[in-house]
This record gives sequence, structure tokens and C-alpha cells, in this order.
Amino acid sequence: MKKNSNARPSIPFDANKIRQDFPVLGREVNGHPLVYLDNGASSQKPRQVIDRVAKYYAEEHANIHRGVHHLSQEATQAYEDAREMVRRFVNAKNSYEVLYTKGTTDGINLVASSFGRKNLAPGDEIIISTMEHHSNIVPWQMICELKGATVKVIPINQAGELEMEVFASMLNERTRLVAVTHVSNALGTINPVEEIIRLSHEQGIPVLLDGAQAVPHMPVDVQALDVDFYAFSAHKVFGPTGIGILYGKEALLNDMPPYQGGGDMIERVTFEKTTYNVLPHKFEAGTPNIADGIGFAAAVEYFARYDASAIAAHEQDILHYATEQLMTIDGLKIIGTAANKASVISFLLAGTHPFDVGTILDQQGIAVRTGHHCTQPLMDFYGIPGTVRASFAMYNHRGDVDALVAGLRKSASMLR
Ligand code: ALA
Repeated sequence: MKKNSNARPSIPFDANKIRQDFPVLGREVNGHPLVYLDNGASSQKPRQVIDRVAKYYAEEHANIHRGVHHLSQEATQAYEDAREMVRRFVNAKNSYEVLYTKGTTDGINLVASSFGRKNLAPGDEIIISTMEHHSNIVPWQMICELKGATVKVIPINQAGELEMEVFASMLNERTRLVAVTHVSNALGTINPVEEIIRLSHEQGIPVLLDGAQAVPHMPVDVQALDVDFYAFSAHKVFGPTGIGILYGKEALLNDMPPYQGGGDMIERVTFEKTTYNVLPHKFEAGTPNIADGIGFAAAVEYFARYDASAIAAHEQDILHYATEQLMTIDGLKIIGTAANKASVISFLLAGTHPFDVGTILDQQGIAVRTGHHCTQPLMDFYGIPGTVRASFAMYNHRGDVDALVAGLRKSASMLR
């Protein structure tokens, strides 16, 4: 197993210092200092990432993998160096197992389409869970419909935890893949992914994890997890939008047909027959998002300067403080009370609609997400149309929680 050599002498973690690297956190919204609590949707970008992308466009841009000229070779090198940086970030064994995608959704669609086309037959089953984001539901429904296979759903309890005994009993000889989220975007639940992988592998079933909400909050080591596919997005981990990673084990990726056809993914094209390029290019048709791949590496480099356990401890402090403080608000109910949670709190304020609460918070410069969070089946489970969701990142501090609590008290007094 390759050691995760991204580990470097870490800079002492200090949320207040970190904030200064994020220009947008210094601005005002609606006449108030911005309190940004919508990190589950997308995190903000440090100057280091913004500058790196700007430098690429100002000084280094050319198309990659195509030109003999200097700029093209330089851009190719920077893009492939970035892939290597991301490989180290999640400790993949080989950089060609790290595929660039548009983001988590694209990565899951790639697996559903390509793995599904090759491996699904009528009567087969894919297991997902009640708390999945639409991006880890709909691609499976689409391929299952095409192939006559079925999507099975792991139930959850009221706290928002997977019913693991039921899950164990669902695995059978018809199961082709288990696809679950590492951390729930709507509830914050951290799922017992090691156990899910162990139980699945005991029966020879591969596992895909949606890591979008995990990677910003905890160290992820794909080799230690022994996970088969791991998808995540750059923009939730302080990087650019429109780029993400699908990690896949070499043997599985080699066995899968290409997802999209076009330039770069071929070895030889004739009108009679086309042969395909090797990994990772087989899955990367067309001119990729070069600038943001390079920006992604800058984000990873920035993030990896800090000790991941110090970041996790800070975020746990914010989560616990916020949970405690929100509970003091009359009529506030937290949705998702799992024992093991990451930086998300979803809640309802009795006698108010989440949209109205979100609007009043916005008037005070406080950004939260409201609605179903792309998890309509989960909202159906709770019998609610949606929630208000505060989601934290490493640059949030207790003062942000205090502002949220004051904003909610004001919302309650205005709306009730
Ligand atoms: N999936 C993102 C969220 O939870 C967009 O907000």
C-alpha cells in the first residue's frame, strides 16, 4: 500500500486565520457581515485556488495530451501533476485509478452507465439507502430500468441511521453493487462504511461510496477502506466547480466499457472498429476541465497543510455547540440525530416554513440551504417537505453559530 505522502509538516490549525485566506468571507450581504453556513452545497475558495486558476489562464493555457509545443506540454504536466496530488490526497494506489469527472454526480453516472451496462441483467439488484442524494438514486433507476434490474433500499431509523441488520439480510447472489453515501448531505449521518464494505465483500459484491460530504470533513484513504469506487467533488473541498474525481479499482475500471466516446479515449479509430486508450484516458473523452483540475490540486494542497484531525475536532466542536444552542430555541426540532455526525444540522422551526426562515436569515447575511436537499425520498420518510440546513466548514467558528441562533429567534418572532 502506497503511503499517503501528502502528509506534510502541518501548519497549526486556527479557523480565524484560515478565514483570512477566503476573500468572500470578508464581504457583507444585505448590510451584514456574511455568515456562510451553506458549505454542504458548496464551500468557499481560498486565494491560493483563485490565484492558481487565474495564473493558469494568464500564463499556461493550451490543450493537453495533444500538442508537441511547449505550452501544451506544460499544461499536460500541470494537469497530470494535479491528478497525482489528488491521488495522494485519497491515497489511491495508482494515479490512473483517479479519473477526472465533472463532479460526484458525473462519477456516479459513469459507474451506473458503464459498470451497469456490463454487469446488470434482468433480476439483478443494486442496493442503495433511504438517505441517498438524488444523484445516487436516479442513475441506478435509469440503468436498472434499461436492464430489467431492481433498486433495493436500505431502511433507516428515526435518528437517520442505516438499519444495518436489514442491510446484511438484503445482500444476496443477485446483488451486483452497493452504492451508499459516506456522509448524508441532509442529515449529517456518518455511515458505518467499513462495515458496509466488509459485509459486501464477504459476498464478493463491490461498493461505491458517494464521498461528496465526507472528503471536506475527515481523512479518506481509499486503500484502507478497500472501497471499489469513491466519487467526490472539488467544489465542496475548497476547489473549483465543475470538476471531481471518481476513484475506481484498476481491475474493475479495466473491465468496464467506456462511458463516453470521443477524442483522447481512443487508441485507434477506423470506421469498422475502434479500440480504446488505457486508464485513465479511456474514461476521459474530450478536452477536459484543465484549469479546474489544476485548481483542484491547489485546493488539496491548501487543505492538506492542516492536520485533518485538528480540522475534524474543530468542526465537531462547532457541531456540538450548534446542536446545544439550537435546542434552546422554542419549537426547534433537529432532523437527523445520529450518534455519529459530520458538519450538518437540519431542522424545522415549529409554525414556520423553511423557505421563509431561509429568507429572513438571508436578510441578516446568513446563508443556509432550505428545501429537500435533493433527497426527496428521505423527506418522504420523515413526512416533511424539507428542512432548514446549516452546514459547516473548517473556517466557521462559534460566532457564526451565535449569529444563526440570533437570526432564528428573530425569524421565529416575525413568522409566528
Ligand atoms: N448536494 C449539495 C447539497 O447537499 C448540492 O446541498
